[in-house]
Amino acid sequence: MAGRLEGKRVVVTGAAQGIGLAIAEVFLGEGASLFLIDRDGDLLAAEAARLRATGGRVAHASADITDADAIERAVAVATSEIGRPNALVNNAGVNVFFEPLKLSDADWQRCFDINLKGAWNCSRAVLPGMIEDGGGVILNIASTHAFTIIPHTFPYPVAKHALLGMTKALGLEYAGQGVRVNALAPGYVRTQKAVEYWNSFPDPVAAEAATMTLHPGGRIATPEEIAKAALFMTSDECPFMNATCLTVDGGLSVLHHP
Ligand SMILES: NC(=O)c1ccc[n+]([C@@H]2O[C@H](COP(=O)([O-])OP(=O)(O)OC[C@H]3O[C@@H](n4cnc5c(N)ncnc54)[C@H](O)[C@@H]3O)[C@@H](O)[C@H]2O)c1
Repeated sequence: MAGRLEGKRVVVTGAAQGIGLAIAEVFLGEGASLFLIDRDGDLLAAEAARLRATGGRVAHASADITDADAIERAVAVATSEIGRPNALVNNAGVNVFFEPLKLSDADWQRCFDINLKGAWNCSRAVLPGMIEDGGGVILNIASTHAFTIIPHTFPYPVAKHALLGMTKALGLEYAGQGVRVNALAPGYVRTQKAVEYWNSFPDPVAAEAATMTLHPGGRIATPEEIAKAALFMTSDECPFMNATCLTVDGGLSVLHHP
């Protein structure tokens, strides 16, 4: 049976670990050709080699998504290694959590450079090829922070709200050329990023336990659960899904008094 992503040439950012790596693994299992990008070159090279050893078509480049020139170069390498990308998953992101008045200008800049401008740098690098080829898919990994706010996590949710805005803007702009642009909003996912968040509290174990109780099902997502939603959204199984956001949070954001 053909894989659900047969014929997809997918660029995944932030692919060295966490959700991005899970997306790479799930997509590879469904027949996609992959070009993986991460700024952690050593970790990325090791994971890419491991995936390649399973027999899949996997190339990679160490690049920082905030560097537009480096991303243009990486997409050129992707084109020569796996063919012109017809799918992009903008996954790389970082937590930048402050009480607003304690935020420095440097941290504001870092937050928006990575969580918003980085996704634009990558989108801008692949869109001309997608338009010329008659279509493509861009999937932005947003967050429930894209439509809700946790106090003292400023300005991360502001950047994620903006990422949702960019999803809608680009989705409308290029729908006529066959490009679909959507966002996926996970709640909490068990990755290094989540561990670092719990470790930022005086009692990390209590912080983790408190996170679990926020969730109607008493647990948070695995990276694979997010990757499977990303698979559906990147495949040709939802051709009319565009300029929208799919929430995958176990019901977290529906609770009125979490
Ligand atoms: N983990 C969660 O609970 C959670 C919840 C909602 C949304 N998200 C979003 O999912 C995405 C992935 O999160 P994760 O938990 O897997 O994170 P992670 O920290 O486990 O992995 C992120 C990867 O992105 C890379 N990266 C960071 N900045 C980069 C840059 N400037 N250029 C290139 N690579 C860069 C890192 O090196 C790392 O390998 C992020 O956009 C995050 O905001 C995560």
